[in-house]
Parts: sequence; structure tokens; C-alpha cells
Amino acid sequence: MMGISAMDLALGRGKLNLRHGRIIKGKMKTRTQSKKVNKAWLNDHVNDTYVKLAQKEGYRARAAYKLKEIDESFGLIKPGQVVVDLGSAPGAWSQYLRRKLSPRTAIGGGAAAGTLNGTIIAMDILPMEPVEGVSFLQGDFREAEMLDRLEAALAGRKADVVVSDMAPNLSGIESADAARIVHLVELAVEFSKTHLKPEGALVVKLFHGGGYDELVRLFKATFRAVKPVKPKASRDKSSETFLVGRGLKPS
Ligand SMILES: C[S@@+](CC[C@H](N)C(=O)[O-])C[C@H]1O[C@@H](n2cnc3c(N)ncnc32)[C@H](O)[C@@H]1O
Repeated sequence: MMGISAMDLALGRGKLNLRHGRIIKGKMKTRTQSKKVNKAWLNDHVNDTYVKLAQKEGYRARAAYKLKEIDESFGLIKPGQVVVDLGSAPGAWSQYLRRKLSPRTAIGGGAAAGTLNGTIIAMDILPMEPVEGVSFLQGDFREAEMLDRLEAALAGRKADVVVSDMAPNLSGIESADAARIVHLVELAVEFSKTHLKPEGALVVKLFHGGGYDELVRLFKATFRAVKPVKPKASRDKSSETFLVGRGLKPS
């Protein structure tokens, strides 16, 4: 990464973050797009309200505001809970969770003020700078070994909330990329069936396009209440969206 941290990239302080490339207007954004488009994207990104707010409030990425809005709409995250953060790097969602599971509001710097009241288990295939109080596991969620490690970290407890912002590296081949996204969401649902409390909630990121309807059906078969959400912090031109499932249906 040539000395630029994932945090710098997420906040537009380094080169354009191609790893976090997204599907734009139904097409896969790939490394082959022109430098001109990348420059325009970077320009928008740097001037973006949420990027500025993230810098001011000490979040590692603007993504924090997507989870914040979802949480504020549904009242999901509360002190004392066990929360699992899938695809957590660079760590903005973990920072938000850490702040919410603290009795006092954090003041800048990304560190939460006050003692952690609850448990946050985060994982990513990429490394992540530590977030105080958050247990981080590095590895691939698709591998059985990672499931074993998450189970060990849960130590017999069930989670109140599972959040997944996982997004695979895009190849540019639309059908293959859609299948990768669907697979990660399916795995998050499978994980939740076993590791969520009956009244627990799962938040996942997914994309309109290939596999969307199928995933909504899977959510409806798994949860008592299912809502799609497009937070304001999620860019309009991105087909990114989120599904919130609450209350497991009996299996
Ligand atoms: C949009 S980023 C997450 C941003 C994060 N929520 C935050 O607030 O900082 C998507 C993440 O999913 C991770 N990811 C993609 N595929 C994964 C996999 N198979 N296992 C674990 N993490 C994965 C990527 O490495 C990337 O860090």
C-alpha cells in the first residue's frame, strides 16, 4: 500500500481507494476506469460532508454514518450487548459500536470515553488498527477456521446484533462479482441463524442488481421483520443498500 493506511484511504487522504470500489449505476467499478473518472471521484470524496464530519469526529471512514443512521432508525445498539462486526476494516463501524457501548460520548480521536459496557468482536480479511476494547480477528469469513475463531471469541454467548459491511474485491465480471456478494451475505445469514439471540438483529450491506431479490427472500425466510435501508451517507449513485433483519423465525 506504499505507506498509506486503510484509514487514510477511506478518508480520501491518500490515493483513490480502489479496494473499496463499488458498483456504480449497475456497473462494476474496476481498475480499468480512466484516471479522469477516478480524479472526479476523489474530488467529490474529499469535499463530501460525511468525509469532513468523519475527520472532525475522529472516525476512520465516512461509513460510520451509515451504521449510525441505521442504528438511530431501528434502535439496535445498546450498552451491555454482544455485537459482531463482519468486514470491519478500517474500523469506523467498530469505533461507532465502541462509542455506543460506552456510558459516555466519545470526544474526538476515535477513542471512546468511558468503560466498555458490552462486547465487540470484529473481523476482516485485512489488518485493522486496534480500536480500544474491540477484539479483532484477521481472516477470511468464508473459511471454516474463521467461524471457529468467532465461536471461540463468543465463548458460548449469543450476539444481540451482527453487522456486516463486507464487500468483496470486484473483478469487473458482473455475474461473478454478484455471486461473491451474495455468498458473503448468505454466510452472514447462516452465521446469524446459529449465533444470534432469538430477538437479535442482522444488518448487511448488499447491492441492487444480481442476487438482490434472492437475498431479500432469504432475509424474509429467516427474520420476522425485514427492512431495506439506504442511509443518507450511502452515495446516491452507488447501488449499495442495506437490509435489516430483526427477530429470528423459529427454524
Ligand atoms: C467497506 S469495507 C468495511 C468498512 C468498515 N465497515 C468500516 O466502517 O471501516 C468492506 C470490508 O470487507 C472486507 N471483506 C471482504 N471480503 C471479506 C471476507 N471474505 N472476509 C472478511 N472480510 C472481508 C474487506 O477487506 C473490507 O475491509
